Amino acid sequence: MVRGTASALSAVACVACLLHNVAGFVVGPTPTARGSFTRVNRASSAAAVSRAPGTLAPAAAARTQVGHASAVLRSSSAGREMTMAAGGKKTCIITGASSGIGLEGAKFLAASGDWHVILAVRSFAKAEAGAKDLGMDPSTYTVMNLDLASLNSVRNFVAEIKAAKVKPDALVCNAAVWHPKDKKPRRTADGFEEAIGVNHLGHFLLVNLLMDELKQSRVVFIGTETHNPGSIAGKIPPQAHLGDLDGLAKNEPMIDGVKYEPTKAYKDSKVCNVLMMREMNKRYSSGGMVVSALFPGCIAESPLFREKRGWFRAGFPVFQKFVTRQLVSVEEAGRRMADVVSSDKLSSSGTYWRWNGQDAEATARENVVSDEAMDEARCEKLWQISSDLVGI
Ligand SMILES: NC(=O)c1ccc[n+]([C@@H]2O[C@H](COP(=O)([O-])OP(=O)(O)OC[C@H]3O[C@@H](n4cnc5c(N)ncnc54)[C@H](OP(=O)(O)O)[C@@H]3O)[C@@H](O)[C@H]2O)c1
Repeated sequence: MVRGTASALSAVACVACLLHNVAGFVVGPTPTARGSFTRVNRASSAAAVSRAPGTLAPAAAARTQVGHASAVLRSSSAGREMTMAAGGKKTCIITGASSGIGLEGAKFLAASGDWHVILAVRSFAKAEAGAKDLGMDPSTYTVMNLDLASLNSVRNFVAEIKAAKVKPDALVCNAAVWHPKDKKPRRTADGFEEAIGVNHLGHFLLVNLLMDELKQSRVVFIGTETHNPGSIAGKIPPQAHLGDLDGLAKNEPMIDGVKYEPTKAYKDSKVCNVLMMREMNKRYSSGGMVVSALFPGCIAESPLFREKRGWFRAGFPVFQKFVTRQLVSVEEAGRRMADVVSSDKLSSSGTYWRWNGQDAEATARENVVSDEAMDEARCEKLWQISSDLVGI
């Protein structure tokens, strides 16, 4: 009964999300910006801050400015050594790029010819198979092991990147877990509730250990509209709520210390992504870092829904396609991610992007974040508690 109710509420939440999209889609399309995969609202691009020197330049210029050609990464994938033959291309690390939006985003960046992509994943075989399925040229990407559910794995990954003297031009914090049917929290290797551990703390440590390499780079977080209880989608229970972060400080399963609820844990972790984006923008954008987030849309066919019931996974995309007409494909979401990574029109640091439609004709525009995510004191407090928890 409880599970059924939760499923129904989740379904309503997603529908509300789509309806909210419809309500928010008021800006008409503008011509696709040069070098962009998607369209950009003129007002947003006009407000864009200047890009970091050497990192966000148009592709042709960037080729001469970025030199990673000598970097060699050794990957244990299938027991063979892979060379990151960047050849003057820019380098983008995407976490969780073994499926879904991350893999599709990698495909677009790699196919542009301007980027070499590091697929930072916990399963080599899955990433390799996924890249092959999408027809990615093996010379355009490198698969590396990163399990965000283990702080040791994060440290090892960073050590490998540093040893290879790779200075990433972009990092996409994309990986996430959502366990909607769990009654008890799963734990990471370090004992954190998994949604907060993987979606936030693993990324927090990753970014901090790579901070020297990222000073002039673009850092992108993947957000969700349901992080915001002020939005129609976000009003559907369980709502995101971090409170004063006391539960997190005590390493309880829920950030605000309430009883474990898996979908709330996921939403809360996505609020943390926005808080982290805003705090990083405050601390590092003046030095040249461009840090932003995007809500790619409701992507009902992505593997993120793998733990939902069969009837939901079968029916929801159909409902979106024919009833709300708001089905955003995984491919389109990947295109949007690639744009936030690479387009000079989406180089406004501190911005949370969204699009005003479901297909490639949609236009990027700035989105609001939740009241909790706007609170600067909470941004700072999350940073401090997270630093303590991951030991930096
Ligand atoms: N789908 C939507 O409607 C939607 C909407 C808004 C935002 N988003 C966000 O989009 C991002 C991508 O989600 P998606 O829809 O593309 O789902 P997805 O295909 O499930 O992608 C999530 C990825 O995270 C990886 N991952 C999970 N645990 C990990 C760990 N411990 N270490 C490293 N990687 C790990 C998964 O790897 P494995 O393959 O090994 O499991 C998977 O590749 C997420 O941040 C999600 O919150 C999705």
